Amino acid sequence: MITGVPDESQVYLNGAFMRIGEAHVSVLDRGFIFGDGIYEVVPVYNGHAFRMKEHLDRLDRSLKALRIEPPFDRAGWIDLIEQLVARAAQPTCFVYLQITRGVAKRDHAFPTTPVVPTVFGMTTAFVPPGPAVREKGMAAIGIADERWLHCEIKSVSLLGNVLAKQQAVDAGVDEVIQFRDGFLTEGSSTNIWVVKDGTLSGPPKNNLILEGIRYGLVAELAAEAGIPFEMRPIGQAEVAAADELLLTSATKEVLPIVTFDGQPVGTGRPGAVYAALRAAYDARIAAL
Ligand code: PDD
Repeated sequence: MITGVPDESQVYLNGAFMRIGEAHVSVLDRGFIFGDGIYEVVPVYNGHAFRMKEHLDRLDRSLKALRIEPPFDRAGWIDLIEQLVARAAQPTCFVYLQITRGVAKRDHAFPTTPVVPTVFGMTTAFVPPGPAVREKGMAAIGIADERWLHCEIKSVSLLGNVLAKQQAVDAGVDEVIQFRDGFLTEGSSTNIWVVKDGTLSGPPKNNLILEGIRYGLVAELAAEAGIPFEMRPIGQAEVAAADELLLTSATKEVLPIVTFDGQPVGTGRPGAVYAALRAAYDARIAAL
């Protein structure tokens, strides 16, 4: 048992379920040596995975980008997720999946002899954002996006995101909003949305952001709620002048950002577009 992680959940590693303290990978695993791997975080509500198809589609895209042969087909991934949830300490949890290229002699190039990818899965506790945080909202600061040019891959090489998130912590805020060449990209581990005059906008889906699974969902929920929605380049000044700012992720669902760089966003209170999307998001979860 790893100290400080008292959890009855079982994890999966390369074909077997076990306690987390019993799960070991080689120091030559390319995930450890090079960050040569990808991951997914699937939220599970009361035993029901949310947007599982979309998460597995993105998992496939990430594996393809790294040219890692998928260790499982679709049915295999679904079975693995179900098995992890069945062994989870709590029915509302995250399923974390990580696949690396596997273990090989240290060499930057892909191994020339076939290697078996390392497949790891675990569940962690998920306490969905409650009334207090929904009401209070988040604080954010703007920073330069210093990451690489393949942010669309859900890679475990997260140093840029880790350093970005730490800037938020050091500044005493909840999240950063990153800008590349003066245009909005995303948070350290969230997608960011801007509301102006009732229209909801998000940056284009390209190599500069991770297309969150909530990306497609937000578009659907906005359409249902009759909120005009567009994807387009969004300048830093527009973010600063927004009526509302929102963030989304598997872990944060959808939450309002009420201060940006120390200034109130709009009225400084969660707004009407947030309220509509929040209600629609809750309804989707309730319908699972
Ligand atoms: N992060 N952008 C980045 C860089 C992210 O890391 C995430 C999610 C998102 C939102 O994606 P989704 O809606 O699929 O959660 C956007 C996960 C939760 C994490 O790394 O823990």
